[in-house]
Amino acid sequence: MEIENKIVSAVVLGIKTLYGQDIAPETVQLQKTKKEFAGHLTLVVFPFLKISRKKPEDTAQELGHFLKTEIPSVVADFNAVKGFLNLVIAPASWIGLLTDIHQDAQFGLTEATDLSPLVMIEYSSPNTNKPLHLGHVRNNLLGCALANIMAANGNRVVKTNIVNDRGIHICKSMLAWLKYGNGATPESTGIKGDHLIGDYYVAFDKHYKEQIKELMEEGMSEEEAKNEAPLIKEAREMLVKWENNDPEVRALWRKMNEWVYAGFDVTYKALGVSFDKIYYESETYLEGKEKVLEGLDKGLFFRKEDGSVWADLTPEGLDEKLLLRSDGTSVYMTQDIGTAKLRFRDYPIDKMIYVVGNEQNYHFQVLSILLDKLGFEWGKDLVHFSYGMVELPNGKMKSREGTVVDADDLVAEMIGSARKMSEDKINKLTDLGEDEANEIARIVGLGALKYFILKVDARKNMLFNPAESIDFNGNTGPFIQYTYARIRSILRKASEAGISIPETLSAQTDLSEKEISLIQMLADFPNVVKQAGSDYNPSCIANYCYDLVKEYNQFYHDFSILHEEDENKKTFRLVLSAEISKIIRTGMGLLGIEVPERM
Ligand code: ARG
Repeated sequence: MEIENKIVSAVVLGIKTLYGQDIAPETVQLQKTKKEFAGHLTLVVFPFLKISRKKPEDTAQELGHFLKTEIPSVVADFNAVKGFLNLVIAPASWIGLLTDIHQDAQFGLTEATDLSPLVMIEYSSPNTNKPLHLGHVRNNLLGCALANIMAANGNRVVKTNIVNDRGIHICKSMLAWLKYGNGATPESTGIKGDHLIGDYYVAFDKHYKEQIKELMEEGMSEEEAKNEAPLIKEAREMLVKWENNDPEVRALWRKMNEWVYAGFDVTYKALGVSFDKIYYESETYLEGKEKVLEGLDKGLFFRKEDGSVWADLTPEGLDEKLLLRSDGTSVYMTQDIGTAKLRFRDYPIDKMIYVVGNEQNYHFQVLSILLDKLGFEWGKDLVHFSYGMVELPNGKMKSREGTVVDADDLVAEMIGSARKMSEDKINKLTDLGEDEANEIARIVGLGALKYFILKVDARKNMLFNPAESIDFNGNTGPFIQYTYARIRSILRKASEAGISIPETLSAQTDLSEKEISLIQMLADFPNVVKQAGSDYNPSCIANYCYDLVKEYNQFYHDFSILHEEDENKKTFRLVLSAEISKIIRTGMGLLGIEVPERM
């Protein structure tokens, strides 16, 4: 920020003038002044004591005097506490800073150019045998927020998804549908396609368990029964047919996957999640096989007696890793190698980020080594954005499967609660039409869900508490959204009263410490965005928004805006409010959270 740059230059000049030495600007450390002292920015003078050869306090005093004389428009006053020089910044500088923010619609955001690094972010990555659940919700929200944050840091971003659309699990759903489905379709039943398929996956499991039980009653061991049950054998046969391109099996597979994708699309749309490029495991696993065989030829991997192919990772301190089974079929890792190959072919990737739960930490550690061995430039530094589990407080909102929280149910439930809350509210927005009320409920319900999940450090396990998340008080999405709507309402009233918002502000305005603190917080936004990007940490944006809103609400409580008599102050407070609302919208936007104009 402008203010800091001016101080840094003046300090460099001050050291030269007072003590005759040149210093590098990087050695000048400024920090926010601690609450207990007067001032806004604090210069740490300890690094300069060797040069000044004076006591910390004296050095601070001398530098303080120098700054106050040299840049009076910036440094209005100072006080020295040991080696800390607390600087009081002149009101005009804060007003100048707010004006800069006001005139920059993209404040805090860095646009990418054709030369910017290309970051590919993979998230979601569901299997096609069941609908999305709460774990996927966390995954999708984190992935989307991360994509926005990387883009805001000047990267070119490609959002991608790898759908696991083949394998024994999908054969189980297909088989159960053939046996028990009587030709049911999403149209004939009115059931969303992904839920329909999920229902047959559950049906398979139920019948399979019955068969196991029967076989065990006939004297088989559990392991044997699991292996010998007719249903599982049929499913395996189906998988072989699928791999051999059996036309009937493939046609059924395509049909049922289409149902699932149509269902996923509805969920993604509801969540506000999208992708630039979707990969399918059915199209990548053979590529993976090829790549592994290539590696085998190059001596990177080895073959065991039974014909299976392995990577020896013992030199890396890991174990041996299976890449192709003895029958030549591929495993999960093979698919990921194939997907990497296609992605690299399609895009000049500089950085690859995989948003995948922490139960796969080992998988990605191995993948990174394998990709590196296979010559993928980004392999070694691939980022596994590893996140923790999310659960509901006991027993609530369980889905049909009994243990998993369904994403669609969850979203519907959140929007329903938001709708109910606004109906119960005392100061209802009575002039709202049905459509607008629904739209606000959608924004608020989703905002509650998204914010509650994103404010938590991604690595931590968490409980999603629906009731807490939608509370209008506290560190919640609706609290922030409400403050946004309140500011927008003030701005509407101002405009109705014919008060326009100017491009620039009068420098002759007195500011309170609260107002200065708000400008200082606004000015910090670009740093927060940078930090979120370099740490891959959406939660720091969330917590910043909360702190900003909390501070603004105190200001709103203590100061009048439209009723302020002093015109300069009134205008200043309107601009300040408008900029707060802009940064709330931008910050929440980075998290994929919308903000309502009224609420
Ligand atoms: N479909 C996998 C699962 O449900 C997750 C895939 C994660 N991404 C990857 N590139 N391996 O466990």
